[in-house]
Amino acid sequence: MSPHLCSGKIFVTGGAGFIGSHLVDRLCQNNFDVVVFDNLSAGRKENIEKWFETSNFKFVFGDLLLSEKIPHDLSGCETVFHLAANPEVRAGSENPTLHFEQNVLATFNLLEAVRKAESVKTLVFTSSSTVYGDAYEIPTPENYAPLKPVSVYGASKLASEALIASYAYTYGFKAVIYRLANIVGARTKHGVIHDFIRKLKENPKSLEILGDGTQKKSYLHVSDCLEAMLIGLEASKEKVEIYNIGSDDQVSVKEIADIICGKMGLNNVQYMFTGGVDGGRGWKGDVKFMLLNSNKLKQLGWKPKFNSRQAVERAVEEILKTGLKNY
Ligand SMILES: NC(=O)c1ccc[n+]([C@@H]2O[C@H](COP(=O)([O-])OP(=O)(O)OC[C@H]3O[C@@H](n4cnc5c(N)ncnc54)[C@H](O)[C@@H]3O)[C@@H](O)[C@H]2O)c1
Repeated sequence: MSPHLCSGKIFVTGGAGFIGSHLVDRLCQNNFDVVVFDNLSAGRKENIEKWFETSNFKFVFGDLLLSEKIPHDLSGCETVFHLAANPEVRAGSENPTLHFEQNVLATFNLLEAVRKAESVKTLVFTSSSTVYGDAYEIPTPENYAPLKPVSVYGASKLASEALIASYAYTYGFKAVIYRLANIVGARTKHGVIHDFIRKLKENPKSLEILGDGTQKKSYLHVSDCLEAMLIGLEASKEKVEIYNIGSDDQVSVKEIADIICGKMGLNNVQYMFTGGVDGGRGWKGDVKFMLLNSNKLKQLGWKPKFNSRQAVERAVEEILKTGLKNY
């Protein structure tokens, strides 16, 4: 990792979560000064506790919805990685307020703090493939339009992107926005892999599968995702730079179930498909087919080490080895 990647202190919201804690590992291993800001609603201290004794690391137990404290904690930071969010796409179909508050309002509060702190030069944001909705162009490139999210989660990410872009232009910092495919690996606490392993540990004889099982999406291992984020950050030139991050292929939900059963040594598991909604989607707002065009990052030299199937296999092995946490 280049020492010039980030200047000054780095502020990581959501740094105790799945992707955030892997990012923090990479930054701390490379001796950057890191401040993690997390309310531990989904993140865990144990994901980052190995850095607690390090002099260039600080953990702040804080909530982006309680905005008064953020400017103080952010003071002196030059780079912000904003990962804190509620990432459960399905949750928004039952409770839209959740995604408005945890994703849009939280981002707005952070941006206000960034504006007041004046030290921030670059803000990096983890957006999502869900901003594209049911794209008719697959693989979907960054300049695909019109963006019509089909989930409140996707809408909350698109709204956050818009806020970030406007603040970057108005208040003079650079923004790097990543639209991520499904990211998988150790420490995850949500998503299809986590859900299936949890259910199979409870009942190894049958598995409820949301939807019709034919949903096909791109999966990327967290190590490939971080590599892409760091390469993109270093190369970005525009005031507001947007990159897709995903693998070049897809796996179906049924294939993921097969991989997990195989890795858990389970035979003859009976799959119970819920049938789903709107033509086999897992839930209202589920995008059934997702594949991103990541050529913009590839032209910078990034290449994922693992395809979707390999990423899923690796993530399942890692999760089975370390155990499921807090489910
Ligand atoms: N995992 C994926 O497949 C995926 C795909 C696309 C985008 N993303 C985005 O990447 C980011 C990280 O996702 P993740 O999978 O690591 O999720 P995660 O739930 O593991 O991490 C989110 C972290 O944010 C913290 N947090 C939530 N609300 C907060 C608040 N109000 N104040 C302070 N901290 C708060 C949580 O405690 C948690 O540590 C999120 O923005 C998510 O939307 C993830």
